[in-house]
Amino acid sequence: MTGVLGRLRDSLRKRGFWRTLTLIPRNILFFLTDFDRKYGTNTGMQAEDDTGLPQEHEGYEGAPPRLFHRIMHSLDIAYGRYTFIDLGSGKGRVLLLAAHYPFRRIIGVEYNARLNDIATENARLYQHPERKVAKIETVCGDAGAYEPPAGDLLIYLFNPFRAAIMERVLSNLENAMRTEPREVLVVYQNPTQRKLLDAAPFLEPVTYHEYRTKRFRKMPIGRVAVYRSRT
Ligand SMILES: C[S@@+](CC[C@H](N)C(=O)[O-])C[C@H]1O[C@@H](n2cnc3c(N)ncnc32)[C@H](O)[C@@H]1O
Repeated sequence: MTGVLGRLRDSLRKRGFWRTLTLIPRNILFFLTDFDRKYGTNTGMQAEDDTGLPQEHEGYEGAPPRLFHRIMHSLDIAYGRYTFIDLGSGKGRVLLLAAHYPFRRIIGVEYNARLNDIATENARLYQHPERKVAKIETVCGDAGAYEPPAGDLLIYLFNPFRAAIMERVLSNLENAMRTEPREVLVVYQNPTQRKLLDAAPFLEPVTYHEYRTKRFRKMPIGRVAVYRSRT
């Protein structure tokens, strides 16, 4: 309660009475829908999440749950065929949400050991009635050096890194597909390195979509590019 009163006092000082008043409904909505408050997990952003982040790595931010579910439903796939791999899995928000779908396996690869430990703990804590996959595998390491397991893959990327790492990820993926031809889907949220995927000869673009909120003035909430392996 003291925290809330403190924030209210700060806002009154910085923004004045009327502006603070207009922000109250939005803050109540944020509070009521907060993912971690609901599920006892720790997936929010903190200042220390990005300390010592090497060049070419993007910082931590958990994917918005509603958007993730809209993306998953749009794919229209038999989930059980695929191993879901989140490259740059952070505190595991996407892994928890992916566990609502009956994927064959769910794997997260995260460079930052602290974030990966938090993801492992979140996977243990997350008790959602819609959770269908009990085991979530968390791997601490560089996504650019990760060799994916056998079988069909759904690779999820939420703006995790820049060009140099993306090039290595694509080259590993191409090798894996050459060694064992299989169906690969790449779902790329906020696709800042989209040009690299567009140019990859072993992938074909499926869709590119700008998602907007369904209500509240249809605000943009994320761009998503989907690719699949060329046959
Ligand atoms: C935008 S966050 C996405 C987190 C997670 N996918 C989610 O949506 O909840 C990007 C994450 O990628 C991680 N990352 C950046 N470069 C990486 C690399 N080379 N290998 C593995 N993880 C990396 C960052 O530490 C960060 O946690």
